Amino acid sequence: MATLTAAHSGTFRIGGELEVHRLGFGAMRITGRGIWGPPADKAEALRLLKRLPELGVNFIDTADSYGPDVSEELLREALHPYPGLVIATKGGLTRPGPDRWVENGRPEHLLKQARASLKKLAVERIDLWQLHRIDPNVPRDEQFGAVKQLLDEGVIRFAGLSEVNVEEIAAASKVFPVATVQNLYNLGDRSAEPVLEHCEQQGIGFIPWFPLAAGELARPGSALDEIAKAHRVVPSQIALAWLLKRSPVILPIPGTSKVKHLEENVAAVEIKLSDREFAALSELSA
Ligand SMILES: NC(=O)c1ccc[n+]([C@@H]2O[C@H](COP(=O)([O-])OP(=O)(O)OC[C@H]3O[C@@H](n4cnc5c(N)ncnc54)[C@H](OP(=O)(O)O)[C@@H]3O)[C@@H](O)[C@H]2O)c1
Repeated sequence: MATLTAAHSGTFRIGGELEVHRLGFGAMRITGRGIWGPPADKAEALRLLKRLPELGVNFIDTADSYGPDVSEELLREALHPYPGLVIATKGGLTRPGPDRWVENGRPEHLLKQARASLKKLAVERIDLWQLHRIDPNVPRDEQFGAVKQLLDEGVIRFAGLSEVNVEEIAAASKVFPVATVQNLYNLGDRSAEPVLEHCEQQGIGFIPWFPLAAGELARPGSALDEIAKAHRVVPSQIALAWLLKRSPVILPIPGTSKVKHLEENVAAVEIKLSDREFAALSELSA
């Protein structure tokens, strides 16, 4: 049997420089319920993280708010000093409790949080730091200015945004080079399509979160279900294969707490959707 490797998803250069395999990993699910506190099974979480490089997954997404701190600290425990890996983190959301997320885009907070991530990850510079949300209560140029300061001071190498529209990307791009954008996007929810198209035009990496979802499209007997059966895979693997074929700037980061699910997700890179299948899925989800 051929080696299972995310390398077969192809590569993308973040900021035109930092090369990663396109199928990455989202490290939000290695925390407790409500993305709060430690994971129920820490040994499994560490085993899962150590499995990533073995499977050729070299792009890992986390955030200071996952846990909070738990995800970044587990990454360090399992993978430091991250040989061959690109670790992306985020700041700008605070956590009053489980399942609760509150923006804080005050520049001093963003600067403090990015420096704290540097310590937690135990790196000299963060590969990619993303503004988790633009805080509606703080002038956005002040938030973009803080990101530029982090770049200028060498705290972070590349910077990205999350949950933004095209106008916001354009506004941020006047202040710092936007390397990546992370928005909700999957086969069942393509409302970020204009943002994806903008990223394609600008060579910005587009990181779709919640990539495994297909919603109603995945119901038994649906066209998606039929295509999955024809390939002898599950619908979520078809959802990933569709994303990888949709655009060369797409970097899906499926998240899981289980090694078995990780392996299943990586196996999706071997699925070759025909142009007809791709068109049928695109039409269904349009
Ligand atoms: N920028 C943002 O605002 C934002 C928001 C949300 C997420 N994110 C990032 O995006 C990443 C992915 O998003 P997500 O975790 O919400 O969505 P996802 O990766 O599409 O789905 C994760 C869910 O699917 C399950 N799962 C994963 N692989 C599976 C498999 N092979 N079979 C069955 N179930 C499977 C996981 O449970 P198990 O643990 O049981 O496998 C988990 O409940 C996150 O980890 C995070 O890094 C960013």
